[in-house]
Amino acid sequence: MKTQKRLGILTSGGDCPGLNAAIRAVVSHATITYGWEVIGIPYATKGLLEKHSIPLTVHCMDLRGMNPLLNMGGTILGSINKGDTLAQIDEIIAGYNALELDALIGIGGDGSLAILDALQKKGNWQFIAIPKTIDNDVAFTEKVIGFDTAVNTVVDALNRLTFTAASHDRVMIVEVMGRSAGHLALQSGIAGGADCILIPEIPYLIKGACSHLRELRDCWGRRFGIVVVAEGAQVAEDGCCHHELVKNKQPSHGMGQYIADEIRNCSHNQLDIRVSVLGHIQRGGIPSAGDRLLASAFGKAAVDLLAQGETGKMVAWQNGQVVGIPLQTITANSPSPVKPDNFLVGTAQSLGIYIGNTEQISR
Ligand code: F6P
Repeated sequence: MKTQKRLGILTSGGDCPGLNAAIRAVVSHATITYGWEVIGIPYATKGLLEKHSIPLTVHCMDLRGMNPLLNMGGTILGSINKGDTLAQIDEIIAGYNALELDALIGIGGDGSLAILDALQKKGNWQFIAIPKTIDNDVAFTEKVIGFDTAVNTVVDALNRLTFTAASHDRVMIVEVMGRSAGHLALQSGIAGGADCILIPEIPYLIKGACSHLRELRDCWGRRFGIVVVAEGAQVAEDGCCHHELVKNKQPSHGMGQYIADEIRNCSHNQLDIRVSVLGHIQRGGIPSAGDRLLASAFGKAAVDLLAQGETGKMVAWQNGQVVGIPLQTITANSPSPVKPDNFLVGTAQSLGIYIGNTEQISR
């Protein structure tokens, strides 16, 4: 009779720093504490579909006695970021059964968690999720793997851009990721000394940003400017200038470039403007200490939940502890945007940062 549990682990959606640290924690705790077998599923649900697996042991993750996973970016399991997975739901469940899994841990952001929730319900799997995303938009958890490192990466870029902006009296427009959420732009903008932060949740006025930059220069002697723009920033309907965004919702040449053009027009070419799109640099790099700690705590807690017989839950960070929250509650409330009462919005305003018209918070 089989007594040992066979645990699968996969990473789904866009990668981020800290995924490998979570894999390491799951493998260590599951094998050392509980004596389970752990197998990695490559490329998320694609690995289940194709019945592929990689044996993971504490020993196989060692390199000359060191375990490199703690500080390695990306994911050793590979990942996919596609939304049409559920079209093959029966084949994926057949793959899970063929691999003879007793339980599965899935690490993903809000899109992946919804897919995995549907799969685990239909397949009747024992399943626990671990949240990760540089967008920080998973509901009911104060922290997710990858966000802390991404904030640090953006702040590092803002530090560098500030020196060159100040040397040339320029306005730097810095476009950051985040999809429909402004957490990354808001937190890195405050920590990186931005003058304007434009996020999806608070529609901005070009006129407002422009006059703020001019006032900083004319009244306060700050001859340069740093504008952090979330890729999903939303324009206010009554803004000035030619608002392609009001009609089309998405600019054709990227949000950073669009805002640079608008500010240039609004300032009658008085401002010297440059654009930096940070792109996937924000997803790379080695994980911060914060993300390593979080990944370790989440990995350990996910294994413990399985050992307690729990299923259909996500580990979440709440009030300094890791708790299990029903996955359905999470997916019903994600993506979770910056809320109107987020104290960091008030903090930004108190610091004199232009953050759009907060009376128009849309969600
Ligand atoms: O969800 C994470 C994220 O990095 C978003 O911030 C960004 O919009 C998107 O993924 C980029 O996806 P891809 O890697 O498929 O280009």
